[in-house]
Amino acid sequence: MINELYDRCSQCRRCALWETRTNLVFGDGNPSASVMFVGEGPGENEDLTGKPFVGRGGQLLTDMLAYVDLVREKNYYIANIVKCRPPKNRDPLPEEQKACMGWLSEQMGIIKPKIVVCLGRISAMALIKPDFKISQEHGLVFDKGGVKYMALFHPAALLRDPRRRPETFIDLKNLQKLIMEIAPETYQ
Ligand code: URA
Repeated sequence: MINELYDRCSQCRRCALWETRTNLVFGDGNPSASVMFVGEGPGENEDLTGKPFVGRGGQLLTDMLAYVDLVREKNYYIANIVKCRPPKNRDPLPEEQKACMGWLSEQMGIIKPKIVVCLGRISAMALIKPDFKISQEHGLVFDKGGVKYMALFHPAALLRDPRRRPETFIDLKNLQKLIMEIAPETYQ
């Protein structure tokens, strides 16, 4: 099912980003997982490989998630708000986010996550609320129609400012607790 969605998404022309991208960066990980991470949009390494979060920030994220026993191939699925790299890594424009949101909705319809973790402000504003304040509201749990949402600092922000990492470790510990409560299958 997820492969059929990938095939349709790879033909997408809903915004202009397809013209400048190298590869579609659709998503990666276990499509049967109960936990889904959502970033903002592909950077250069992601564009070149077709996989989300594989650059320096991605490696930091992978390492930090391993700290709470979350392994991409097994325990979670990971994707982005926009599936094609914005030129020069600029923020995806509101109209590009809007154009791409249907693909993420379809992905979520297949994966049916119990917990969605937004990586960074752009993702949290798109998925939790438009006025989301990442510095004040990271780590808090929001309920939306029975699905739990939480935001973490974006890994690129943690690379730029390592002083924020301890707070993210606390958020990750709280995420682990939430997973054990409502999605214990993740760790089985
Ligand atoms: N930053 C993101 O938001 N997503 C990626 O896939 C890589 C970097």
